[in-house]
Amino acid sequence: MDKIMHELEEILKEPIENTPPSFFMDSLCSLDRNILLKSVREFGTPQYILDREQLQQRALYFSRMMRQYIPNSDFFYAFKCNDLPYLIAGLKEVGFFADVAGIFELQLALELGFEKIVFSSPGKSISELKLAIKHKNRVVINVDNFDELIRIKEIAGTKKMKEKIPLGFRLNSEPFLKGEWSKFGFELEELAKAVKLVNNSPNLEWVGLHFHCSWNKTPWKYIENIKNIGTFLSRNFSAEALKKLRFFDIGGGYYPEKQAVINKIQDKGILLDTIGARRGNKNQPFEEIKFDPYGFSVTQVEPLENFAKGISEALKESIFSLNPEINIYFEPGRFIVSFATHILLEVIAVKKNCVIADGGIHMLGDYKFQEYSFAPIVNLSRFSTDFHRKIIYGPLCDPNDLWGHSYYGEEIRKGDILAVLFQGAYTYCTAWRFIKPIPPYIAFSGGKLILAKPEEDFSQRYPGLISIE
Ligand SMILES: Cc1ncc(COP(=O)(O)O)c(C=O)c1O
Repeated sequence: MDKIMHELEEILKEPIENTPPSFFMDSLCSLDRNILLKSVREFGTPQYILDREQLQQRALYFSRMMRQYIPNSDFFYAFKCNDLPYLIAGLKEVGFFADVAGIFELQLALELGFEKIVFSSPGKSISELKLAIKHKNRVVINVDNFDELIRIKEIAGTKKMKEKIPLGFRLNSEPFLKGEWSKFGFELEELAKAVKLVNNSPNLEWVGLHFHCSWNKTPWKYIENIKNIGTFLSRNFSAEALKKLRFFDIGGGYYPEKQAVINKIQDKGILLDTIGARRGNKNQPFEEIKFDPYGFSVTQVEPLENFAKGISEALKESIFSLNPEINIYFEPGRFIVSFATHILLEVIAVKKNCVIADGGIHMLGDYKFQEYSFAPIVNLSRFSTDFHRKIIYGPLCDPNDLWGHSYYGEEIRKGDILAVLFQGAYTYCTAWRFIKPIPPYIAFSGGKLILAKPEEDFSQRYPGLISIE
């Protein structure tokens, strides 16, 4: 550790080179600065802003790439990643189905008219299960555990229904998914017993299997899981039973390229900027960088095509050989929505060593910029290729209400508009109900700015007041 700290001190002494922000603005941030500033004039700050066309292009990029290698596949957007109805409707338009995890998401998917919905989560309530079963022609439940299966059996009853309730099983199949992920799904060894319970019920039908693994920068976890499950199935189930399966759901977890993540123990904003500058990496200053106890290491996210190829080969070897007709389900979230949303803030105070913006990390519901993440911040009002260090805080009564340690543009002044880029995933949906209202969500679509969701208001924050009167 001492050696690393020494190296770090040395790095910090070196001057930081400028990094042109045009890279983000031109190739990743598809919205131009003038549109972002126009949105601020029309709708104020803080705000989330979505580029709907970019979102749809990204979704099509994912589904076309996967279908090129795995033709019999369907795509289920994971609502939990960003549940803005306007965004979800945009994904439906480009052929995505729905992956839901709770009653509101399920209701939303039904309301938006999705024809195929997968419902996967580890603790479904009775009312959630009842609603899913009521819409069994559209919803398939990925069952997580025996107790849930027994509850479903009880709800289904013994009186024969016209159509059976379709069920998939979530599997927790691999050693690398144990530990903190061990709460999810059945163990492979439990599958035969679960299937038996289904077969003993007149109203239940086993139609699929599911696994999910998160934060994948390479396809290896998918490949290992597919092979492992395939081998297990071939040894433990008859060819006839396996031919009846309709889907194999391989979950989400596709990591977007060029996102910076750094270990919690360090002040990653400074580290990341410093390392990027030192490496002279002018074009991709915030590519994937990891800091580990052995020193700095760089982990690139593999291109999506490598995922498509690797997964397709594993499927051919281990799953299509058992059931050539089976439909492959994908449940991407983060990969699809990260880049198309930005957060816009106004600087309301400038102090000696820091500035305070009008929106805080309640917009994220996460201390991610304090703990493990980095996002480029651009001064839209004074746009230039200069790169500056400055701590950018939000307005919350929390010392960790921090957006970053640096920005691109000319020196920040009071009233300047800042853009925190690429904040579409696990931000709006996880926003905290803390001190400030949850800001509005604006969408840019067909050349127009639209208020996709208004700012949270007083009556939404304090509905209980009505009963006190
Ligand atoms: C079952 C399931 N599917 C899909 C996703 C979406 O994952 P990501 O946003 O990493 O693609 C998640 C996220 O936790 C999940 O639990």
